[in-house]
Amino acid sequence: MKIIICDKTEKEYIEQMRAAGLTVDVRDDITPEQLLVELPNYEGMVVRSRTKVRKDLIDVCPNLKVILRGGAGLDTIDHEYAKEKGITVMNTPLANSKSVAELAIGYMLMMARSLYKASATMKAEKWEKKAFNGDEIGGKTLGLIGIGNIGKEVTKRALAMEMTVVAYDPYVKEMAGVKLVSLDELLAQSDYISLHLPKTKESSNMIGKEQFAKMKNGVRIVNCARGGIVNEEALYEALTSGKVAGAALDVFNEEPPTDWKLAKLDNVIASPHIGAATKEAQARVGAEVAEKLIAFAKK
Ligand code: MLT
Repeated sequence: MKIIICDKTEKEYIEQMRAAGLTVDVRDDITPEQLLVELPNYEGMVVRSRTKVRKDLIDVCPNLKVILRGGAGLDTIDHEYAKEKGITVMNTPLANSKSVAELAIGYMLMMARSLYKASATMKAEKWEKKAFNGDEIGGKTLGLIGIGNIGKEVTKRALAMEMTVVAYDPYVKEMAGVKLVSLDELLAQSDYISLHLPKTKESSNMIGKEQFAKMKNGVRIVNCARGGIVNEEALYEALTSGKVAGAALDVFNEEPPTDWKLAKLDNVIASPHIGAATKEAQARVGAEVAEKLIAFAKK
């Protein structure tokens, strides 16, 4: 079986696939234009978030049998369409969970203590001890929108830090240590709101002007899920009016953003979609990709 690796994948696992008899070409810098020409020669492809697999690409690849997404989200793939065309679409749903959860918790701590600002003042040779009166995250209410694999990992860590965890997830009926509530209840009760759900038609812009109005004054928002679940214009307004005290954003509607105004705000900490960018997550993704492709080829 001939596989093209379109995005960065650990070498060790590429070698594992080759050792199992797969023909693997690494083209992790391939452009969308080149892919349209070259993908028809392959039966399988490995993608992460850089390579998008849309209808036009699927339509020119009658030989394609499998798309493996190294990561949890399938929003970068027209996966329903691919399935209609008989293509198997797989992902690695658990591999990144712990890394993303740690980032979300780290972000909450950074906002509570304004660590990013404190560090910037020290680099500017300023000793502004009095400017940094923060608060503890222990004792605060964390509202999780989405409580799947990542939400569960966030919960474990938040409970260990003595937070109260409430969650909104229409697909979950119960969860130890967590009070399941409606979205409106979550918005009204939470001191921190962290998003851990996929981007779909339903979740796009699910947090907008109306939802911000229902939140506590001074709430802090963490988005390590997908850009566009929180409406960026509404978030900008809420951050500049002071309704939202701070936001930590690892994901954006457009990546990289064409408009950087949100990332530049003083009360925003931003990072370039690095939730899964740890040695451990990369290794788990690589191992799972290799395992799943080898099993698929044997069928
Ligand atoms: C995921 O979907 O697992 C993460 O967002 C990883 C990524 O896309 O970089």
